[in-house]
Amino acid sequence: MDNGRSQWGSNLGFILAAVGSAVGLGNIWGFPYKMGKSGGFTFLLVYIAIAVLVGFIIMMSELALGRKTRLNPIGAYTETKKAYGFLGVFAVLSPFLIMSFYSVLGGYCLQYLSLNLAEASFGLQNAFGIQLTGSNTFGAMLTNPFGCVVFTLVFMIICYLINKGGVSEGIEKFNKIGMPALFVMLVIVIIRALTMDGAMEGLKFMFVPGYAVSAGFIAEQPSFINVLGTAGGQMFFSLSLAMGAMITYGSYLGEKEDIRKNSGIIVFADTLVALMAGIAVIPAAVANGIQNGIAFADIKLSGPNLLFVTLQNVFAEMGVVGPIFGVIFYALVLIAAISSAISLIEVISAYFIDRAEKKGKESNRGKIVLGVCIAIMVEAALVAWDGLGSNGVWVPGQQSIGVLTFNDCWLDFMDCWSEGVMMPIGAMIMALLIGWELKPDFTLNELKNGATFGKGFEAFYAVCIKVVVPVIMCFVTIGQLNDFFGKNVVNYVISIAILAFFFVFTLIRGLKNEK
Ligand code: PHE
Repeated sequence: MDNGRSQWGSNLGFILAAVGSAVGLGNIWGFPYKMGKSGGFTFLLVYIAIAVLVGFIIMMSELALGRKTRLNPIGAYTETKKAYGFLGVFAVLSPFLIMSFYSVLGGYCLQYLSLNLAEASFGLQNAFGIQLTGSNTFGAMLTNPFGCVVFTLVFMIICYLINKGGVSEGIEKFNKIGMPALFVMLVIVIIRALTMDGAMEGLKFMFVPGYAVSAGFIAEQPSFINVLGTAGGQMFFSLSLAMGAMITYGSYLGEKEDIRKNSGIIVFADTLVALMAGIAVIPAAVANGIQNGIAFADIKLSGPNLLFVTLQNVFAEMGVVGPIFGVIFYALVLIAAISSAISLIEVISAYFIDRAEKKGKESNRGKIVLGVCIAIMVEAALVAWDGLGSNGVWVPGQQSIGVLTFNDCWLDFMDCWSEGVMMPIGAMIMALLIGWELKPDFTLNELKNGATFGKGFEAFYAVCIKVVVPVIMCFVTIGQLNDFFGKNVVNYVISIAILAFFFVFTLIRGLKNEK
């Protein structure tokens, strides 16, 4: 072990944990819908191109940065170049904000798991004549804030128990069982979904270019810039990039493991699960909508509505086996949520553990993880109580501030600063830092421990990290700002200004380094 720091038990354990972090709510509720809406198969090609040219590159860079410094994100950036400590702060603060709602959504999964367990046990619909459709239950759940806070707490306790166990005894162990289980359950749900009448329409929505428009799911095809922004934003969140997770997981990785190969496997597995999740949920959702005579435009295929309204409708109307499939499905989503949440908690915990050790103190993982989980629970209670804006809790940005009206609810508020602002800007500056100031060899030298590659790969990495990643990240930043704060030319100006400023900044500092 290096300087007493935890390590993964095996490379496979690391891969499963990293895939666990990547595979999460983003894959299930974001990817399929965005793919359908933004051009089906065409979107998939754009997504894969960005995943290879940007996602794969940043994945390798983050894992290498983590392993090289053996530190949390703040420590890793500060130790590498003091001036960029703020990137580390972004990468620790973002997970904290994301967890405020990720834990609440995990709580919802537990609640829908309980609902389906109760229906399977007591046959509530038949015995008491209550309709357990998503349309009935979701509103009832959101306007019952006490229950939401309690289940958020249960979700956090589960995560706490795993993280407290440590890197290899907690996180790795959970994923070694959780990931294979998730895969099996996903296959079961896919088989059921594809055998429903009308499932074909759903597949067409996902795969056939332009079908979403021609069938009336959406009014018009988004522009190419929008598609690029959507694909990029989705890819980042889905691969757990620019949130410190891969830097932290990389810091526990053995000296001789092949980071390049591992990164390829993680990117591939995450994309595969996103596609499989789409095939599991979209056909069922569309088939059920058709059977109930709902217009395509009104079938809800994204976000919390997809998971907790549309799909619960499917389970409630499926007959006796419905709740069983409901249990399998929500258990699957729950595992995906836990395996991502524990990586986010680990980012923040690692910071405090490293900090204690730097001060020469013996760090107490249990106590630190408990503290982190309590802090998350406090902000999460607010998001849970808010119930996606159902309970009239005040949130900044809900009323217009000048031209800006950007938040419907606390979930949006937390999401817009993390996913909308810090994530894309952080990744853009990170690429410039490595490409122009530290130089690509910074990462490549670390990759050489464990991988052998030729000049071709080195050139590919160099071109991507210097030019392709920063430019695409600029588009992604514009797209995210447009998404969260409303379309505005100001977003273009801000994004391009940051790109230009840090390009010049890193270039000058890079030239000085050479002297
Ligand atoms: N990748 C996870 C998902 O798709 C979310 C996540 C983001 C997890 C960043 C960790 C870090 O849901």
